[in-house]
Amino acid sequence: MASTESWEMIGTALLVVVVVSVWRASRERRKLPPGPKGLPFVGNLWDMPNKLLERTLYEWGKIHGDVMYLRLFSTSVIVLSSIEAARDILDKRSAWNSDRPPFVFFGEMVGQAGALPCVRYGGRLRKVRQWLYDGVKSHEKLQSYQELQHRAVGILLRNLLQTPDQFMDHIHLYVAVILTEVLYGKKVHSLDHELVRVAERGIDESNNTGTPGGRLVDFFPILKHVPAWFPFAHFKREAIAARHHVDAWLSVGYNLALGTVQPCMLVSVLSQYGGKPTAIDEVDIKGLATNVYGAGVETSRSVLQMFILHMTRNPHVFRKAQEEMDRVVGVDRFPDFGDRDSLPYLKATLEEVYRWNPPLPMAVPHRTMMDDQYRGFDIPEGSMLIPNVWAMSRDARYYPNPEQFSPERYLPTEVKDKESVLLPSSFVFGFGRRVCPGQPFAQASIWLAVANIVALFDINKATDKDGNVVTPPAEFISGFTSHPVPFVCQIQPRSQKIVDIINQLDA
Ligand code: HEM
Repeated sequence: MASTESWEMIGTALLVVVVVSVWRASRERRKLPPGPKGLPFVGNLWDMPNKLLERTLYEWGKIHGDVMYLRLFSTSVIVLSSIEAARDILDKRSAWNSDRPPFVFFGEMVGQAGALPCVRYGGRLRKVRQWLYDGVKSHEKLQSYQELQHRAVGILLRNLLQTPDQFMDHIHLYVAVILTEVLYGKKVHSLDHELVRVAERGIDESNNTGTPGGRLVDFFPILKHVPAWFPFAHFKREAIAARHHVDAWLSVGYNLALGTVQPCMLVSVLSQYGGKPTAIDEVDIKGLATNVYGAGVETSRSVLQMFILHMTRNPHVFRKAQEEMDRVVGVDRFPDFGDRDSLPYLKATLEEVYRWNPPLPMAVPHRTMMDDQYRGFDIPEGSMLIPNVWAMSRDARYYPNPEQFSPERYLPTEVKDKESVLLPSSFVFGFGRRVCPGQPFAQASIWLAVANIVALFDINKATDKDGNVVTPPAEFISGFTSHPVPFVCQIQPRSQKIVDIINQLDA
């Protein structure tokens, strides 16, 4: 006769079989959106490439549709590849589709818990988004930063004049100058400034840990308790090493703000707590380093570098933008924010830069907070919602011949009215209640830099040592944020008069 223990084991095994069968049956009864068939347990994990995932998802979307179902272990993933699906689900139903998946590795383990992409839907999110509204989005704030943006452009122009070959670094510094002053109230003039170096190290370490939400521990949070010495706990050791630099980054500005009287975002938020925030508020205040500097620097510099790349590859576009600039602004003054609406070709050129290689090709995933239905399909609660912005940027219904760089597609013509044009800036900054809070500020900084470059410099293809003209390839470094691979071009002032004017700038 079997012992009591044996009966218990048999009972437990039967229970597991019943629970798994019921769970499977309930899933099978669901009418999930179509998608590539996955394997048992891991789902579609092995089908996912390490690089340029957005392009693979775009190809799968052509087969399965713009609302596609994937599974990563037990997590349902819904990939939205059209603007219509993204707007219906993420904008119109934003009340229950604005949570984030738990980013256990990036948030809890690497130390980015205060970064908004890791903050779940609710009161904390509203609090931090309000700080960002007050700090970078309100009309008054946007106006108040114009002087700073002009000063930063002065530094950019002078650097481009002196060492044009280092344009990638000069663009980086331009964005760093602006964001460091906004956040910490500190003026920086070099990428070697301690605040910038510590931040860049923290960002690199965070980026090197992969796309947030993509680690095994994100699907099996219990793994975070594995001790670091455990043979297969490499991820744990990696997180500890990265966290050291992330903590240094988040603390340096915070400590500075505790003692500084310079007006800036950190000081203003800290003052709301009389300089003594609770532990959780402190995490969120420190997170502003990621939410302002981290989120802003990577994306904005990527757009500016892409602008230079596209202008090098498409000289006819650059010439047209310059003609418009000369006609509207003339040659006796620098372009200013007041010229923005009078330069439609430049605006269209920037839209095409945003479209051609969106800086965050898959934005940041959202998470649905309740069971939902869309076009007759079930969207299970807890699904990860991925807006494939890259697929939207290749939608031939809106962008015929999508690989062509053509600002003309946004200009109204007799047959094309304003309404039928889909501006990429309406989706590359994300959706619904999680839409990028830095959008207007980023677009203003980017516009001012680009307008001044067009007005004052020529951009041409470089020649190699044998005198051959080099057309830089349109290649991008794949990752959470997409950047052009380093390339060469020739940037020269348009006249001696311009050289004199730039030299007189007190940057
Ligand atoms: C060209 C520049 C930029 C691009 C393309 C960009 C794009 C995006 C995208 C796609 C998202 C995800 C939105 C979503 O989940 O639906 C996002 C989120 C965010 N962005 Fe930006 N961004 C840029 C610049 C900035 C700047 C300058 C700041 C700050 C000053 C900023 C701060 C943030 C923050 C804090 C979030 C997280 C919002 C949340 O989770 O609620 N971004 N951005």
